[in-house]
Amino acid sequence: MAREDTRVRRLADGIELPLLGLGVWQVPNGPECVNAVRWALEVGYRHIDTAQAYGNEESVGQALRESGVPREQVFITTKFYPRHRDPAGEAERSLRRLGVDHVDLYIIHWPQGGPVWAWPGMERARELGFTRSIGVSNFAVDELEQVIAAGSVVPAVDQVQFSPFEYRRALLESCEQSGVALESYSPLGTGRHLTNKTVTRIAGELGRTPAQVLLRWCVQREIPVIPKSTHRERIAENAQIFDFALSDEHLAALDALDRTRGTARARESKWW
Ligand code: A2P
Repeated sequence: MAREDTRVRRLADGIELPLLGLGVWQVPNGPECVNAVRWALEVGYRHIDTAQAYGNEESVGQALRESGVPREQVFITTKFYPRHRDPAGEAERSLRRLGVDHVDLYIIHWPQGGPVWAWPGMERARELGFTRSIGVSNFAVDELEQVIAAGSVVPAVDQVQFSPFEYRRALLESCEQSGVALESYSPLGTGRHLTNKTVTRIAGELGRTPAQVLLRWCVQREIPVIPKSTHRERIAENAQIFDFALSDEHLAALDALDRTRGTARARESKWW
C-alpha cells in the first residue's frame, strides 16, 4: 500500500490524482493516439491528459474502451478551450467524444479573456456531474488569486510548464499555500531538456535515463507530471520513476538549472 500511496496526490477536494499521466498534446486523432494511450494503460498508467484543443478526445475514449481497464480506474483530464464561451456545454460535448459519463478533472486551458469569466461555468460543469474536479492551466499567481477570490470552489490544480529549467518557485509556493496542486506539463521541455549535461550526468550516475531523472524531479516533490510520447518503449521508460530517488545533491544541481528566476508567472511568452 505504501508504494501505491506515493503514486497519487490527494487534491484539496479529496479527489486522488495519479502522479504520472500520459500527455497527448500534438498527437493526432487516430491510430497514433489510440496506440499511445493503449500502451500507457497496458504498462500501468492510470491517468490520461487530453484537451478539447488537441482534437483527439475520441481516440482517448476509444483506447480506454479497447484497453479493457475499467473506467473508474483511470483518471481522465480534459481542458476547456477558452475561445469557446460555455464551459459546461463544451464539457458535455467532450464527454460525448470521449464516450464517458464524466471526466475526473476539467481545467481552463489558458486565461484567455481574463482569468475569472469562465470559472462559474466550470463550477456549473462540476455541479452537473460532468467532472469530479475542476482546475486551471497556464495561470500565474495573480490570475489564480483572482479566481480564488471570485469563485466558490478553489481550483484543484494549476497545470503549467514546469521542469528544473522552468522551476517557477514563486508560483509553486503560492499554489501550495492556496491548496492548489501545481501540475507539470512539458516536463522534458518537449524533448529539449534531455541532452542537458547536468541531466545526463545525473542519469549516468544513477543508471537511469535523462527522461526518468526529469520526471523523478517532479514526482519526488509530489508534483503530478504528464510526459508525452507516442513510442511504446519510451512510454514504459517514463513510468519507471517510482523505484529510485534523487539525492539532495542531485536535486540541488537540478534546481540550479532554473532559467525563470523562480518566477510567479506561468509562461514566459503567451499565445493568447
Ligand atoms: P516521442 O513522442 O516521439 O516519443 P514533453 O513531455 O516535455 O512535452 O516531451 C515530449 C517529447 O519528448 C516528445 O517529442 C517525445 O517524443 C519525447 N520523449 C518522451 N519521452 C521520451 C524518452 N523517454 N526519451 C526520449 N524522448 C522522449
